[in-house]
Amino acid sequence: MDSILVQGKSRLCGAVKIQGSKNAVLPILAASLLTKDCSFFENCPKISDVYQMIDILKFFGCEIHWEEKGLYVDSAKASPRNLPEDKAGNMRSTIFLLGALLGAHKSACISRVGGCVIGERSINYHVSALEKMGTIFSWEEGQMLAWTEGLIGADITLPSPSVGATENVILASVLARGVTHVRGCAREPEIVSLCEYLRLCGAKIQGEGTNTIRIQGVEMLHGMHFVIPPDRIVAGTYLFATVATGGNVFLQNAPWRELYAPLAIAEQMGAVYNCSEEGIYIQGPERPKAVPAIVTGPYPEFPTDLQSVALVANCVADGCCKIVETIFENRFRILEELQKMDAQIVEVSAMCAQICGVEKLKGSVVEAKELRGGAALVVAGLCAKGSTTIRNTSFLYRGYENILRDLRELGARVASV
Ligand code: EPU
Repeated sequence: MDSILVQGKSRLCGAVKIQGSKNAVLPILAASLLTKDCSFFENCPKISDVYQMIDILKFFGCEIHWEEKGLYVDSAKASPRNLPEDKAGNMRSTIFLLGALLGAHKSACISRVGGCVIGERSINYHVSALEKMGTIFSWEEGQMLAWTEGLIGADITLPSPSVGATENVILASVLARGVTHVRGCAREPEIVSLCEYLRLCGAKIQGEGTNTIRIQGVEMLHGMHFVIPPDRIVAGTYLFATVATGGNVFLQNAPWRELYAPLAIAEQMGAVYNCSEEGIYIQGPERPKAVPAIVTGPYPEFPTDLQSVALVANCVADGCCKIVETIFENRFRILEELQKMDAQIVEVSAMCAQICGVEKLKGSVVEAKELRGGAALVVAGLCAKGSTTIRNTSFLYRGYENILRDLRELGARVASV
């Protein structure tokens, strides 16, 4: 079943619990290779990217099983093996294995790095940083081979704040000889979570959450119990779904401190909200007001992963909105699908789109092309008159544990078909 049927229009009402974070857990699972020990990850999200990472870790020799509250990973018997393409699949996060395997075992062989087709997604920052730490790379028949006689601390300046490159350097440096300084690094909360886990395991890291991180290499790390934090992008998806549908929703566990920019946009659109340690209560307006502009950027700016769903909310808002995407160049592939639903897209260039809101969208048959755009199309279906079929929705399970269950709990009429 690869399609989702949405019966519109729906006003979301009720409470939904926010799952564990995809982008926090994936580098943390890779980090468990550095411990040669057991770790337990409470609140681990049951999403396809996690299942794929589990398969890869098992391939390297980790013993893994689910328990009621989370995932148990024992890396004691792990060793580096060539990761074939069918195992690496289409997941961007295989790149984290590079830093973790080099740190733990001095070599890595990875077939290719996938991920959603939202941009070129080069890995040049990862490669040059690891080279600076003493890694030698070669490419043979589509495989990337990396080895080192032993990683050494280095002074690394990233050309721009890449989340993955920051995480990879952290993974590589926690067991390296000497001190590593990473400057110009990304400040995303998922980086902070990775450092919190590694520090519990015995790593010496300072400065995460700022643009300079200092890592003092240590001899060894031990395993730990770690609670995976709630997913700010899933929370943000339901936040904008509430704004777009004029709903009334409690986002239980939503990490409001990490959602400053999205909440500010939701407020400008006419929503009212209340944040507490339990989560975010949000009430959408009768009809949202368009914001003049949304510009994506590295954290703490507006996240690129919430751009599509915020765009959808503006498609039904009163007024016009300019969306400027500064991170990934292919995020606007959703626009042609939204046009099938009668969205009024006034102007589009590579990184910028101008949309004017319509009173309601029209139900149609559309196609998901990537994870976040796919989730945004489901939200568009909630705002549309009649039924909308979103095809190719297997992407959604990469990041959303059960978007249909969550939306049904909020009163939506959605089904997989
Ligand atoms: N970049 C380079 N060279 C590099 C690395 C990055 O040019 O070596 C460029 C990218 O092409 C992009 C920009 O730098 O234009 C930022 O990319 P970044 O490395 O920060 O992204 P990422 O690590 O590949 C993570 C998330 C993405 C999220 C971005 C931005 C994970 C597993 N993925 O990707 O999440 O959009 O950061 O916040 O953490 C998603 O969850 O749907 C998703 C795509």
